[in-house]
Amino acid sequence: MPADHAHAHSGCFDLAAQEAVYRAIFTRRDVRSHFLPDPLDDDMLARLLMAAHHAPSVGFMQPWNFIVIRDQRRRQQVRDLFLAARQQELPHIAEERQALYRKLKLEGICESPLNLVVTCDRSRSRNSPLGRWHNPEMDLYSTVCAVQNFWLAARAEGVGVGWVSIIDREALKRMLAIPEHVVPVAYLCVGRVSEFAARPDLERHGWGSRLPLADLIMSEEYCGDGETELKDAAARLAGTPVGA
Ligand SMILES: Cc1cc2nc3c(=O)[nH]c(=O)nc-3n(C[C@H](O)[C@H](O)[C@H](O)COP(=O)(O)O)c2cc1C
Repeated sequence: MPADHAHAHSGCFDLAAQEAVYRAIFTRRDVRSHFLPDPLDDDMLARLLMAAHHAPSVGFMQPWNFIVIRDQRRRQQVRDLFLAARQQELPHIAEERQALYRKLKLEGICESPLNLVVTCDRSRSRNSPLGRWHNPEMDLYSTVCAVQNFWLAARAEGVGVGWVSIIDREALKRMLAIPEHVVPVAYLCVGRVSEFAARPDLERHGWGSRLPLADLIMSEEYCGDGETELKDAAARLAGTPVGA
């Protein structure tokens, strides 16, 4: 049986498609610099939003909305929120890391051609909290899934995305007229870029490095020993299949 035929039967993608999925995952970057000013065309943005909209969601709740922000003055105001929040965060950073923290570029709010706020409407389950009775936060997790879909689709289309979380949420809600029951989950800077860095910015600047996957695997219970073969297999991967 030809390989592609076998793939079709088992439900898995052909090898080129598998490679493409892993490539999007391993070469996705959080982008703060390298944004180009070129506007994104609406057909492309619609495709990315459609990818987001196809994320899994608890009880098929689809709690997300997408606020597109293009206005430069508004973005300047959001950037002011970022600058204030960064000042407030700074004293809570370990003293020996504060100088590095100050140097890091942690947003591209005004340089990117557009910003996108992905929100979670916590009331959208209409008094039927399927999957949320014990774990009401699942709607927020669902919204994060939508963000990740957007991020990966954007990478495949050569569009950079940077997540800015250093913002006072309540101030942002007031600025964007977001109602009480809606949570702004992600503030994203979006646009074409001149390059995607090979490694995370925070790694390149010595803030942190990727933890070895094998060290994160536990067996049967938290901190449970075991799964030696799985850990060996993870260690053998030593990076990513597509060399990101
Ligand atoms: C929930 C969340 C919030 C983040 N907030 C910020 C942020 O405020 N500023 C920033 O520069 N990067 C932010 N990031 C990006 C991370 O720093 C980045 O994902 C991490 O360093 C790994 O780099 P990579 O995404 O390029 O692989 C955020 C990422 C996530 C998932």
